[in-house]
Amino acid sequence: MTTLRGNWNYPTAIRFGAGRISELPDACKALGITRPLLVTDPGLAALPMIASAVESCRKAGLPCEVFSDVQANPIEANVTAGVALFARGGHDGVIAFGGGSALDAGKAIALMVGQSRPIWDFEDREDWYTRVNVAGMAPTVAVPTTSGTGSEVGRASVITDVRQDTKMHTKKIIFHPKMQPALVIADPQLTVGLPAHITAAVGMDALSHNLEAYCAPSYHPMAEGIAIEGMRLVKQYLPRAVKNGSDIEARAQMMVASSMGATAFQKGLGAMHSLSHPCSANLNTHHGLTNAVVMPYVLTWNRGALDDKMIRLAAFLDLPRHSFEGVLDWILELRRTIGIPDTLAGIGVREEHADAFSRQAYDDPSTGGNPLPMTPAKFAALYRNCISGKMGAEVAGG
Ligand SMILES: [Fe+2]
Repeated sequence: MTTLRGNWNYPTAIRFGAGRISELPDACKALGITRPLLVTDPGLAALPMIASAVESCRKAGLPCEVFSDVQANPIEANVTAGVALFARGGHDGVIAFGGGSALDAGKAIALMVGQSRPIWDFEDREDWYTRVNVAGMAPTVAVPTTSGTGSEVGRASVITDVRQDTKMHTKKIIFHPKMQPALVIADPQLTVGLPAHITAAVGMDALSHNLEAYCAPSYHPMAEGIAIEGMRLVKQYLPRAVKNGSDIEARAQMMVASSMGATAFQKGLGAMHSLSHPCSANLNTHHGLTNAVVMPYVLTWNRGALDDKMIRLAAFLDLPRHSFEGVLDWILELRRTIGIPDTLAGIGVREEHADAFSRQAYDDPSTGGNPLPMTPAKFAALYRNCISGKMGAEVAGG
């Protein structure tokens, strides 16, 4: 095995390789951080990897405090509490350490420590990001501990808006180009303890990012190039990482496939994410797992716009059949191998949710990247397919 290690700046500065978490104090210093606030989730906060990260910072003369009041699918209150602690502790930078929820919360805290407007004023709409007081933002080092979200290289955070009046929960994308962490430490060793079912679910999130980015109709050949290689890495290494969590080569390759997915999806996402967001916002289903369940249904729905692209993808992935069916068979087989349920019903989404979630899915920012134009009625039909297990292409006028 060649040494999987490197220093990359495409487009984020990434220190990649097993054991490189030891460079955390140096990474903080490189960004001028002297009193970091480490943002993570409660599960990770109890693990030795956080204690040892804090200790290494302190030893290097960087007093580091931990904030871990971050729930899965983080909400505004988590961000507000982190901002308050940042101010109380006199911190001057953030270490966002964990899976997607911790990374997104950390990035949102680093944004909000310098703002006077409410967080929802910075939703990813039109030019709302220009409202941000950039000078007030705190520098961020990101340390991913799962391989799926890719949030470490992303310019946005997903925060759930809990509406008191309607009780509906909506995932909103908070965006500013400078929310992209200035430095990433990508250490695959940190993912070795992830259980197999989480490895599978987050790995499928990475696949969904690469696949939806590849399928999105906008013109972005660089993103497409990254996406197609990201999918090849998932094909080769996700089953290995799920089967043997200590396979450090597989862990490393999945970690880079995850960063590649999030790099590629500036090209666009699509209906997999549109369908998935209302499910996890309202029913707390796992984001990556939900994407994995809906993946073949969405691909089939969009088939009319994808035949040529699937032929190229199947050839690159060296699949037995160079066709749409070849790609679909691979995805179905991959899902079976790593234990993903077949239908949304299998993860608690019921028939009545199809109509209830269809408007939210339509309004999701991911919808604009879907290969075929969508409507709320089409989303309701697609939800029904995913709930019942019916694989169907979009019907004209449906
Ligand atoms: Fe995702």
